[in-house]
Amino acid sequence: QQEKYNEQYRSKVHFSPETGWANDPNGMVYYDGEYHLFFQHNPDTTIWGPMHWGHAVSKDLIHWEQLPIALYPDSLGWIFSGSAVIDWENTSDLGENGVPPMVAIFTYHNRELENTGTDKFQSQGIAYSLDKGRSWTKYENNPVLPNPGIRDFRDPKVSWHPESEKWIMTLAVLDHINFYSSPNLIDWTLESEFGEGIGAHGGVWECPDLFPLQVEGTDEIKWVLLVSINPGGPNGGSATQYFVGEFDGHVFEPHGERTKWLDYGKDNYAGVTWSDIPDEDGRRILIGWMNNWQYANQVPTSTWRGAFTLPRTLKLTEIYNDYLLVSSPVKEFEKLKSGSKKILGSIISGMQEINMKPQFPMEINLNFNTENNTAMNFGERFGIILSNEKKESLKIGYDNLNKLFFIDRSNGGWDSPNQEFAGNHFAPYIVNSSSLSFKIIIDNSSVELFAVDGLVVMTEQFFSTKEFTSISLFSEKGEVELLDGEISKLAEIW
Ligand code: FRU
Repeated sequence: QQEKYNEQYRSKVHFSPETGWANDPNGMVYYDGEYHLFFQHNPDTTIWGPMHWGHAVSKDLIHWEQLPIALYPDSLGWIFSGSAVIDWENTSDLGENGVPPMVAIFTYHNRELENTGTDKFQSQGIAYSLDKGRSWTKYENNPVLPNPGIRDFRDPKVSWHPESEKWIMTLAVLDHINFYSSPNLIDWTLESEFGEGIGAHGGVWECPDLFPLQVEGTDEIKWVLLVSINPGGPNGGSATQYFVGEFDGHVFEPHGERTKWLDYGKDNYAGVTWSDIPDEDGRRILIGWMNNWQYANQVPTSTWRGAFTLPRTLKLTEIYNDYLLVSSPVKEFEKLKSGSKKILGSIISGMQEINMKPQFPMEINLNFNTENNTAMNFGERFGIILSNEKKESLKIGYDNLNKLFFIDRSNGGWDSPNQEFAGNHFAPYIVNSSSLSFKIIIDNSSVELFAVDGLVVMTEQFFSTKEFTSISLFSEKGEVELLDGEISKLAEIW
C-alpha cells in the first residue's frame, strides 16, 4: 500500500479512503474480531455526490484495510448515513443456518422524488450480510420506515434495548429527534420526540446516537444522546452537541439545559459510536468525520477527500454539577508511539524552540504549572507553535486572559475560497487546578487536542503549503512553567 498513501496531506494514523470522496462514518459494528467502518462515499469523484457506503475493517481500530463498496444506490435512492447491528437472536428472520445477520439501517435519499418538489424523499431502508459484511442484500420490502412528509428525515442509529426487549431507532428529523421501537428491525413504531426548546438549533439536526454510559467512579448509568448539527457549531459550521439524561425505552429526559459540545474544533462531525463491542471490553468508542461542511468540498487534498478522527473512547464524568463526556484516543493507539523524547521542565517566556524537526505523525504531551495563573507575570497565551520558512504557522494553546483553549490556523497556509477555514478557534475552559495537560496528536493535515485529560477536545485540519520545520514552546506577555513534556514519533499505519 506504500506508494498510494504517500500524497501530500495524506493522514498516516487516520483512516481516509484510497480515492474519492468520504463523509460521515456509518454502520460501525464489531463482529468476530473485526471492527467495521462504513462511510459515506462517492467513489468516482472527490466531491459529494451519489452516496454509497464505503467499507473498511480493522482488527485493532488503528490499522485499516479498505474493502469493496458495501452498499450501492438503487431505484429507491442514494444511500445516506445510518448504522449497523448484529441481530444475534435473528429477530428479523434475515439470518440463515444459525448465522446472525449483520443488518445495516440507512437512509434512502431519492433524488428523482426530491426534484419533483415533494418533501417525502428520505426514508429508511435495511440491508443484511451473512458473510461478515463482505456482501450485502437489500431487504425486499424497503423502505421499512417511509417518509411521513418531512424533508429532513434521516440517519437512523439503531441499538438493542434489553430492558424493553426492543430495537430502538434514534432518527434525526429536521430540528429534533424521533425515537422509534421495533421487535424485528422491520416494523417501526414512533415512541416519542425530543429536542424542542433545548440544545443548539442553528441548523438541521443530523447523525444522532443514543447509548448508556456509566458515570466514572459510580454504579450510575446515564444515557448520552449525540446530535450533530449543521450549521450552528461553536466555531461555525457543523459540529456535534450532546445531551445526558435518562432513557426508559420510550422517552429521553435530559438533565439540565446547557448546550454541550463533544469537540470544539471545526473538524469533527457526524461522529457516532460502535455497536456490539463485547461486554468484556465494555468501551464506548466513537469515530467522527474530520471535516466541516463549510469547506469540505474544497479542502486541497488530491485524489481523495475526507479523513476520520482517531477512534476515541468516551467516558462520562460528573463535574461542575453536570455530566460531561471525556474523550481519549483508544488505548490501541499507544502502540504506534516510539522514539519518545522528553522535554525538560523550564520557565517559558517568549518563544523557545525545541531542538528537533517536527515529523508527522507525532504526539506531543505537555503539562504546564497553572498554580499562579492569576499572577501579574503569568503568560497571557501559552502553548506550542509549529512553523515553516514561509512564516506559515499552527498554534495550539491556552488563552489565560480569556479562559479559552485555542487552535490558531489563521496563518496556516491554505484558506477556503469562502474564508471559513483560516481562523483562531476556541474552546472555553476555566482552569482551577494546579496544572494543565495537553495531549496533541498531529498528522499530515490534522491536529487533535485532548486537553485536561480529555475533558476539552478540539479537532482541526491544517494545510500548510510547505512542511513545518520548527517547533517552539511559547508564552506571550509573561511566563509560564512547563512542568514536563514528551514528544513521540508515531508509526505510520499505511
Ligand atoms: C451529515 C449528512 C447526513 C446525511 C449524509 C449525506 O453530514 O448530511 O445527514 O445522511 O451527510 O451524505
